Amino acid sequence: MIYEERKSIRKYKAEMIPEDALREILEAGRLAPSAKNRQPWRFLVATGEKKAEILNAMEQGILRTKKSKVMPEKFKKGLASAENTLRIMREAPVLVLVMNTHSGDPYGLNFAGKRVSEIHDSLSIGAAVENMCLRATELGIGSLWIANTVYAHKEITAVLHTKDQLSCAVIFGYSDEKPAGRPRKAFDEVVEFL
Ligand SMILES: Cc1cc2nc3c(=O)[nH]c(=O)nc-3n(C[C@H](O)[C@H](O)[C@H](O)COP(=O)(O)O)c2cc1C
Repeated sequence: MIYEERKSIRKYKAEMIPEDALREILEAGRLAPSAKNRQPWRFLVATGEKKAEILNAMEQGILRTKKSKVMPEKFKKGLASAENTLRIMREAPVLVLVMNTHSGDPYGLNFAGKRVSEIHDSLSIGAAVENMCLRATELGIGSLWIANTVYAHKEITAVLHTKDQLSCAVIFGYSDEKPAGRPRKAFDEVVEFL
């Protein structure tokens, strides 16, 4: 099954993927289901120098979070993982930033009142990202779904000149590794027939 074949890829070859394959991956995202069919997404595709510029902004955001005196220590615990993710993102030839066009700054005050639609739109965006990762797998292209962009929301959206929420990112490229399947909870642990 394609969903069993998909694995998070953390080592990439420098070789660019063909443009038509990239378009097919993005098309799979476009066709995903969404709450109320709101399609709350926009996919910003970056390669080459643009990708480098965005990832430099991400590095600045990680540094800011590191130095921050107001960010909770629990939040900062993920910083080492974010630095590792950034290194992987620099390796992959294609970066797709997944914007939530229905939500703004996740740290802003207007956030709380929109809680329900925000959850629904995030679920919809998850469907779009998974569709893209599965299509990439079918096309023999590796992918990594990334939420560690959260440490640099301010810096990355500034470079993109957008007020949309940066929901997450996904990278695509030819895999330079063959990871074993990561463990999953047992069927009976996660499924309950009522
Ligand atoms: C919403 C989401 C965010 C993720 N963020 C990151 C990330 O920032 N960095 C990273 O290396 N992996 C990230 N991952 C990949 C997970 O670590 C991975 O899916 C999980 O360990 C299971 O491994 P598998 O994808 O190979 O089955 C993310 C996955 C999801 C679904």
